[in-house]
Amino acid sequence: MCCLCTFIFPSLVQGKKTNEIRSGEIWPDNHGVHINAHGGGVLYYNGRYYWYGENKSDTTSSAMVGIMCYSSSNLSDWKKESVALPVITDDASSDIVKGCIMERPKVIYNKKTKRFVMWFHLELKGKGYAAARSAVAVSDTPEGPFKYIRSERINPRKLPFDMTDEQRAILDTLDANKYKQWWTPMWYEAISKGLFVKRDLQGGQMARDMQLFVDDDGKAYHIYSSEDNLTLQIAELSEDYLSHTGKYIRIAPAGHNEAPAIFKRNGEYWMITSGCTGWEPNEARMFSAPSIWGPWKKHPNPCRGPKSEITFGGQSTYVLPVVGKKDAFIFMADIWCPKHPSNARYIWLPIQFEDGIPYIEWLDSWSLDFFDKKK
Ligand code: GAL
Repeated sequence: MCCLCTFIFPSLVQGKKTNEIRSGEIWPDNHGVHINAHGGGVLYYNGRYYWYGENKSDTTSSAMVGIMCYSSSNLSDWKKESVALPVITDDASSDIVKGCIMERPKVIYNKKTKRFVMWFHLELKGKGYAAARSAVAVSDTPEGPFKYIRSERINPRKLPFDMTDEQRAILDTLDANKYKQWWTPMWYEAISKGLFVKRDLQGGQMARDMQLFVDDDGKAYHIYSSEDNLTLQIAELSEDYLSHTGKYIRIAPAGHNEAPAIFKRNGEYWMITSGCTGWEPNEARMFSAPSIWGPWKKHPNPCRGPKSEITFGGQSTYVLPVVGKKDAFIFMADIWCPKHPSNARYIWLPIQFEDGIPYIEWLDSWSLDFFDKKK
């Protein structure tokens, strides 16, 4: 099922009223060109929202341009700012050489260093999805240009800090030779006990789909699909947000979660994820926890109504807290279009709450005053 946008949402590009958010349609920037910032996230800084995302070309999902930055004061009218982190065209040995894979960039602002820090999922050119690295770049201004620093696997030689002595003892006994056949019940059990954590202990943990989250105390966390996309991990970032501290946990071991999007409401942490079906949409999942370090509890699919079993055709990418409005969070997702990647569309829907539990309904058109009417 490719380019859902063309058959789920047939009536594209209608007259857009001011401040209207119409998921699935063409979203023109200030030049009238569809916004090219996929798998993205949004940073609020100094009265403006900055939207960072993957630039997708017409024919390939590999990075031909780099990471884009758009800005807006009202979340509806978007100005194209820059290629915040361009691919490298004149050095074939660069990690971010044209043709590599740069996915799901997120940018956070470090109040102490006054710098903007970007992390993204990096795959090396010509190596498919085998590298499973995270890359970091930094800038003094939100629109960049960001300076590329390095790419790496996460927390080499470290085990999850919450692993008990008993769990470590079990891990010690796990013998990879016994689990060469994937997807058997025995293999799942071994994955869940940390077979791949052990496999990747020396070189560092894999990291693909990813998210960043800055907590109220200024600490930042990196949330990513690890262990061959079988298990999510949450890792603490250093004070300057440029490296990992070695402290991390595993979430939903062997649960096959991708596309983590996280937010905090009334002291509770919420995370929406997808299953692992590549560019095809699937049913969203949701977790909550009283602390970033868990325990994370699974909830039913937060989406409701028609197409809720495929997240309305999309895959989560970010939850955007609207500044100045209480309990106003926007669920952001991508409707991928692998045959014509630049034609991928965006889903932005308000997160609603029932008995304190988040849920998401499709709305053809809405605007931010939706949040005021809900009160
Ligand atoms: C998706 C993932 C995307 C991209 C894609 C490649 O599952 O969420 O970010 O990696 O797979 O097939």
